[in-house]
Order: sequence, then structure tokens, then C-alpha cells
Amino acid sequence: MSTKKSLVVVANRLPVHRVSSRGQRARWETSPGGLVAALTPILKGRSGSWVGWAGTAGGAPRRFTHQGIALHPIGLSRQLVEGFYERFSNRTLWPLYHDVVRRPEFHRGWWKDYREANTRFAEMTAKVAPRRATVWVHDYQLQLVPQLLRTLRPDLRIGYFLHIPFPPLELLAQLPWRRELMEGLLGADLIGLQTKDDARNMRRAAVRLGGAHGRGEDLAVGERRVRVAAYPISIDVASFETLADTPVVLAKSFAFRRRLGLDRQVILGIDRLDYTKGIDTRLRAYEELLASGRVDPARAVFVQVAVPSRERVEEYAEIREEVEGWVGRINGRFSTVGLTTVHYLRRSLNPEDLVALYRAADVMVVTPYRDGMNLVAKEYVASRTDNTGALVLSEFAGAARSLTAALQVNPHDIDGMEDTIHRAMHLTVEEQRQRMRSLRRVVRRHNVHDWANRFLGDLTG
Ligand code: F6P
Repeated sequence: MSTKKSLVVVANRLPVHRVSSRGQRARWETSPGGLVAALTPILKGRSGSWVGWAGTAGGAPRRFTHQGIALHPIGLSRQLVEGFYERFSNRTLWPLYHDVVRRPEFHRGWWKDYREANTRFAEMTAKVAPRRATVWVHDYQLQLVPQLLRTLRPDLRIGYFLHIPFPPLELLAQLPWRRELMEGLLGADLIGLQTKDDARNMRRAAVRLGGAHGRGEDLAVGERRVRVAAYPISIDVASFETLADTPVVLAKSFAFRRRLGLDRQVILGIDRLDYTKGIDTRLRAYEELLASGRVDPARAVFVQVAVPSRERVEEYAEIREEVEGWVGRINGRFSTVGLTTVHYLRRSLNPEDLVALYRAADVMVVTPYRDGMNLVAKEYVASRTDNTGALVLSEFAGAARSLTAALQVNPHDIDGMEDTIHRAMHLTVEEQRQRMRSLRRVVRRHNVHDWANRFLGDLTG
């Protein structure tokens, strides 16, 4: 990989967020997450910059440098935030790309705002990218940027990575602007998807709707070649492993177990509070296990962490109510004084508490109806340095392709989910070890740094 060419990352959000504490001046802090952790060292080594939205409506702050990376904030008015981000990205594309688990809405005004916002990202990138730089565009919010950018700056090498699933043609075909969208994507030189199935879906759509030709991973688009292939994302495995074995995490993990009840099995779910994650069915399956007597509420406890997300979007407010309804009903029915059946935490956790909970959990349930990859599943595995614990994993998460030693479930099949959670609770330690060792081998083979280097290596040749 050539390390000389400068790199520009373009993503909906900047890698920083504004933090203000009382009595102190607001400051920028690095945002959590694997993508930022993976790209920061690469950007530092390549005089890199990042174009993104600062996360609030209104004018953009001026360009600034954070940890050696030049950040170029994009300003979006309240109307554009609503039309581009809350509506077209998260009420049209998000449900359409996640197997239509909610009905996507199609509105011409939303599309216009999506195009307008993508144009702003492309224009800012065209302005700041050095000559012949490499540009890496991320995710479904910015699918028009590759072609818009190519028109403005044909000298750039453009890569695009989609973090969420890419739908089969039969679903994508519903989108009134499917051709424009495919043409936007095909402005890239390299398009990366999470799984081989996603890549196949994208290639089929590229041929049928985007004027591309060819059968393999390399497509011909006019005079150009566009490669469309799978680059499954991962996590910073070593940092989870290291954190999991620190005295502070071990102590926290034991304290959690003690507070939850040392003689109770701990079942854990950690998700963004999103309707694609299957939190509702998971709780329903658990309630039925309790109701049928297969699980004794005195001997088991469910911990559900729900990280607030996209709260101004209607469907997210609805799923929050639904999940909280389930938690309330289950607790009303099965909790006793001092013994709560479901602990529900609606917040994000700091890394130590997160890994301590992973370590405290006998069973981790990851049951999305559809998910691009699902990094929580990989984080749990990386944190189980003692090789115990059981992972229940939806077959509709991208992670299921490689984590074949997990107990896989169809989240639409309540009976199957009950049986699988029950089975996970009764695995022998020997079977836990066998499965967890195999899962850890898979996760360790490929971390997020390898992912970024492989993509950039293929992009820059
Ligand atoms: O993986 C999809 C994704 O939209 C990411 O792009 C983003 O980091 C995350 O989910 C959280 O979403 P949002 O930026 O809408 O809060």
C-alpha cells in the first residue's frame, strides 16, 4: 500500500463530538467506536483529513485540527438535518436496507434534501482533498458522494464502504431514485460491503440499474473499472482482550455479578435502541421461558442495555415504548422484592463497564432481524479471555457468516429463540470452551486495522 498519498475520510459524522460540563468551556472529544480507532492512526500517518457533520443543526464550526487530523465540518440547516438525515437516511434507506422490517417512506422532498446534503459533502471534499489524494467515503447517508466527487475531481482515487446491509434487487427496486443512487455509488473505484451476499446484491443492482457490465467482482462502468467486493469489518480485538483482563474490569465484573445475585445466571443484551435489533422478540421469548417455568426468575437475570439512538425519528420513539412496555410487563409479573427479573439501562456505557458486563454474562443474546455486521457479538467474544460464556446470534447478522460456532437463531421464530436461549443457559463448561475457543480464533484472525489496511491497499493498488 502506498502510504505517501494523502487520505481524506468522508463520513456523515466527524470523529469527534462536543462535550460541555458545567463551569467549563465546551471541548471536542474523540468519539467512541472501532471505525474512529482504526482510521485515526492511518490518517495521522498520511497527513489525513476528515469531512463530516458536527452533529447539530446550524452553521458549521471552522476547520480545526484534532489529534493531528484536519477536520472539516459540514453545516446542515435544521431543515436539511430533518430531510437528509432523520428522514431520507433513517426513514427511507434504513428500513429499506434492513429487509423492510418497518415500512420505508418515499417522499420527493426528502430525496431532494438527501441530494443537497450529499452535494455539500462532495463540494467540501473536492475543496480540501490534495491532488491525487485517496478519498474514503462511508455509509448509506453518502451514497451519491462518489459520483458527485468524481465529476468535480477526476484526479482522486475514490473508495466507498457500506456499513449496513445492501438489499436484494427486489427490495431496492421499490426506491423511486434507484438509478440515481446506483450511479452515485458507481462513481467509486472500489465499493466495499460487509458480506459476500451484500456484494452480490450490489453487483446485480449495478448491472441492472447502474449501467455496469461484467460478472465477477470487477465491473466495467463506461471506460472505468469498479471493483465491488466484501470487506467484513471487525473490532480492535487486542484492546478488548487487554481491557478484559485488567484488575479494574475484573473487579467491576465481580461486583456486577454480586449485585445481580451470585447464584443467578446472567443473560445480556446490548444494542442501540433500534427496531432492527430484535430487542422486542428477545424479551418476548424470555417472558415465555419464564411463564412456562423453563427459566426460574430466582436463578436467572436478564440485563438489557439500550443505547439511545435517533430519538427524533418516530419509529425509534415507538420501539422505545415497546421495549419499555415489555420490560415493565415482565418485571411486574416475575420480579420479587429485591430480585429484579430484567435490568434495563437506557444509556451508553463506558468501555470498562461494557467489558465488565461482557465478562459477567453467561449468555449474550444478539438477535437482530437484520444487521450489517454487529460488532457487539465480536466484542463479547474478544472479551471472554477465559473461553467461557455462550453467544446466541441471529443468522441475519453479518457476523453470523464467520461466527459459525455461535448458537445461531432465526429471530422471527419465537419457539426456536426460546429453545436456543434455554440451550445456551445449559451448555456444559466443556462445550462453552470448545465453542468460545473457536469463536475467539475467528475474531482474532482479523481485526479492524487489518480491515482498513486491506481496503486501502486494494483501493490504492
Ligand atoms: O452502522 C450504521 C450507523 O449509521 C453508523 O454510520 C453510525 O455510526 C451508527 O449507525 C449510529 O448512527 P447515527 O450516526 O445515526 O447516530
